Amino acid sequence: MTKADLAKGTGRPGLFQRLDTAYRSFCQLRDLTPEQVDSFMQSYVIYDLDWQDEKQMVETLGPNYQEKVGECLSNYYRVLNHLCAIGELEKMYIPPIMDSNEGITGNQILYEESIAEELQLPSNPKLLDLGCGRGRVAAHMSLLCGAQVTGINIDADQVASAKAYNEQCHFSNEFVRKDFNELPLPLPDAHFDGFYQIQAFSLCKDIPKLASEVYRVLKPGARISLLDWVSLNAYNPQDPHHRELMRCVKPLIGAVGTPTPESMCRDLESAGFRIIRHNNASIDGLQAPLLEIAKGYFGTAKWATFSLVNVGLLPAHFKTLFNRFSQDSDAFIEADRSRLITTCYHWLAEKPRDMDVAGIPKSVSPASSDLAVKADSSASSDSETKATNTPASSIDDVPTNKSAKAEVEKASSSLSSGAITTPKAAVETAA
Ligand SMILES: C[S@@+](CC[C@H](N)C(=O)[O-])C[C@H]1O[C@@H](n2cnc3c(N)ncnc32)[C@H](O)[C@@H]1O
Repeated sequence: MTKADLAKGTGRPGLFQRLDTAYRSFCQLRDLTPEQVDSFMQSYVIYDLDWQDEKQMVETLGPNYQEKVGECLSNYYRVLNHLCAIGELEKMYIPPIMDSNEGITGNQILYEESIAEELQLPSNPKLLDLGCGRGRVAAHMSLLCGAQVTGINIDADQVASAKAYNEQCHFSNEFVRKDFNELPLPLPDAHFDGFYQIQAFSLCKDIPKLASEVYRVLKPGARISLLDWVSLNAYNPQDPHHRELMRCVKPLIGAVGTPTPESMCRDLESAGFRIIRHNNASIDGLQAPLLEIAKGYFGTAKWATFSLVNVGLLPAHFKTLFNRFSQDSDAFIEADRSRLITTCYHWLAEKPRDMDVAGIPKSVSPASSDLAVKADSSASSDSETKATNTPASSIDDVPTNKSAKAEVEKASSSLSSGAITTPKAAVETAA
């Protein structure tokens, strides 16, 4: 692996790579058909809805609303990932501010390093990433801890990009096109040493059910790290201005559900997880300085694009896409500064080790070391900590129909027969 490959794996690309990424995304957007542009615009209908209001979902989208939401999500993200890549958000998330001297990319890198650390992984761990974007975070995880990552994404376009990029970086990560609202996941029981997700659970219809699936596929003792958007206590649904801000923010960040810090804790605990800590991960709880930077990037990209449209070098649909995408960024900044919402709420939890009657672990294959257990007990004295001992739900409780079970078994044998390389070793040799 070359030094350039290593730099790429972190997600801190050089100028040439940034220009190359932006150029490729421009080409993809230029070649969109009128139908694809229309379906992107129409996909926004889902952001006026909420998973919690099933009646409204059915009235707007019909009885098979879940499938319709899935179609909208694919149509939306197929275009959005390219718009984001042009505006330097190839990893499609605004990170928490971990260091106020760093920008978006620097803070993404720091946040991802913190995931690799807090998961307390064994060597050559297997990790699961739901809503894995273009697989750039997965590549960074491989670089950081030699992980072999399985990434799941509803959008075929991003899955293809993730595969190509990880191959280029010589990481043997796997990427699967799958809607995580269609359960079960095609993954074997007790397979992964850790799980992370970045701003994807809010697109999930039934978080307790998905959390149960994540629980099923993890080894006992494995940890999970989540970063997501939430509405905070200051948000008052009776306040018309708050409601208006929320109406503007949801389409911009692409959120269908509206979790709260507490609802997510409840959902994770109901699946059997033990919460280790949960907190707003950004310094001072605000992301606004990074949101201002993103607004600046997109302002420049929009200006350059519109100039090219005006002289006939780009098709007119660029204006339609950029206008729709970038509207309401001020509402996002105001809602963040008013602490009504954040997109960087963080939860760390673990699947308890299975105990027998004598209290001795009878785990299949422990995912983390004894140190992990000690760190957990110290974490529980932290003021942020909200540790609740909930009985672990049985893997057998996961509802599976016959064909789904067959799918899981098939995935199980193909995953376990696959040659798993140790990217970190490769990285160390190269370095
Ligand atoms: C807000 S972005 C999060 C960024 C992402 N974690 C990354 O690494 O860049 C949400 C991601 O979840 C994916 N996604 C959305 N809904 C999904 C679903 N129902 N099933 C699977 N993936 C989904 C999107 O395609 C997108 O990549």
